[in-house]
Amino acid sequence: MSRRTLSFICQNCGAAHSRWQGKCEGCGEWNTLVEEGAERPAGPGRKPAKGRMFALEPLSGGAQDAPRLACGMAEFDRVTGGGFVRGSVLLLGGDPGIGKSTLLIQTAAALARAGQRAVYISGEEAVAQVRLRAERLGMQDADVELAAETAVEDIIATLSEGKTPRLIVIDSIQTMWTDRVDSAPGTVTQVRGSAQALIRFAKRSGATIILVGHVTKDGQIAGPRVVEHMVDAVLSFEGEGSHQFRILRAVKNRFGPTDEIGVFEMTGAGLREVTNPSELFLSERDLGQPGTAVFAGIEGTRPLLVEIQALVAPSSLGTPRRAVVGWDPSRLSMVLAVLEAHCGVRLGGHDVYLNVAGGLRIQEPAADLAAAAALVSSLAGAPLPADAVYFGEVSLSGAVRPVAQVPARLKEAVKLGFTRAVVPDTARGETTEPGLELSDVASLASLVADIAASGKSRGQDG
Ligand code: TYD
Ligand code: MG
Repeated sequence: MSRRTLSFICQNCGAAHSRWQGKCEGCGEWNTLVEEGAERPAGPGRKPAKGRMFALEPLSGGAQDAPRLACGMAEFDRVTGGGFVRGSVLLLGGDPGIGKSTLLIQTAAALARAGQRAVYISGEEAVAQVRLRAERLGMQDADVELAAETAVEDIIATLSEGKTPRLIVIDSIQTMWTDRVDSAPGTVTQVRGSAQALIRFAKRSGATIILVGHVTKDGQIAGPRVVEHMVDAVLSFEGEGSHQFRILRAVKNRFGPTDEIGVFEMTGAGLREVTNPSELFLSERDLGQPGTAVFAGIEGTRPLLVEIQALVAPSSLGTPRRAVVGWDPSRLSMVLAVLEAHCGVRLGGHDVYLNVAGGLRIQEPAADLAAAAALVSSLAGAPLPADAVYFGEVSLSGAVRPVAQVPARLKEAVKLGFTRAVVPDTARGETTEPGLELSDVASLASLVADIAASGKSRGQDG
């Protein structure tokens, strides 16, 4: 009897196949199957291998050392959940040129200044180039150890000597190669092999390793997804080329929250932490234009005010365009459907564009009300009051539903000089913010009626 062994593994999704084929049936990717040594099946006639005995430890055992080390950049620490955990491995992804190397050399310098051993290994730039950048950032005095190396075994051998570094930056994982795998650097097998070796070293030595990962066109971290499963945290560094803001976000974090964001600004002297992002996101506001609404949002534990911009214009296309930047397209479709079905707003013949200003990406459903207000304002040509913020979730029935953390949102609005808030009708009981006028809306239809009425009276005035 022949025994089928699954030995061709897709390097993208990990699906196993019994023979080689061009396309993986699991994920649809081409040329990702690689033959791997199949596990030998246990069965009669084979003596099971005897395992080595190891000691089991109680869950309650104390950690010998401070488990986390804050790096000193508060925005970075906020995203990691309070600092770098000993022996953890983080993957930092982001578009080329977004500032990953800058962020990490600054982090390494901050740690080195605090007296910790920090090592920066660049596989992309020569030592002189890294030094030149550090000089430009005014960090030449920081005691960061540099190397331009790509051989993983050599790196591990070097770093095993002497005092264990507290932080090791590997820029980038795609340039690393290990002897144990015979394929070119950058291929999935190499990336996975190198990551595995480095992760093993981190767990053994207690050093924190940050791997830089390149991002493919569609925003995924290039190389096998399995690297994302192997590391403890996946961070993504985002931003738009035309904006100076950079947002650090945890996509996965075994030791902390994933909804916190860190905000930075790219300046001539490197990345600057932005401790009050609302000010930054509202700084370029077009006051008094139809189609913009300020959303009082929450990112993690921090309130954040952002401007939502909408443009609704008659379409010449059979199927009108719906384009969204920074928000979920399916939520836009939902809000449009509710506007059509319950509020009598006809958008079938209009193109709709929605943009979250500043390059931020909003995930909260609480933005529904602000998005709807911006859309209706643009359609009616009626500017929304410049001193008002909006939040609330819209349900499919057209009702405006309550959202969490109302006091924090309103407090931030007051801090930034807003005097009005358009909120779900349950919000009134939750706050006592002086100097803030609350207009509660129970349904989206009543908001639409208010905006349309203000548009009409403006039309009569003008
Ligand atoms: P870099 O950190 O090299 O990006 P990555 O490693 O993600 O590819 O950053 C490159 C960009 O950052 C580059 O376009 C110039 C800009 N930059 C500044 O604006 N100010 C600075 O002080 C530095 C170091 C870079
Ligand atoms: Mg770089």
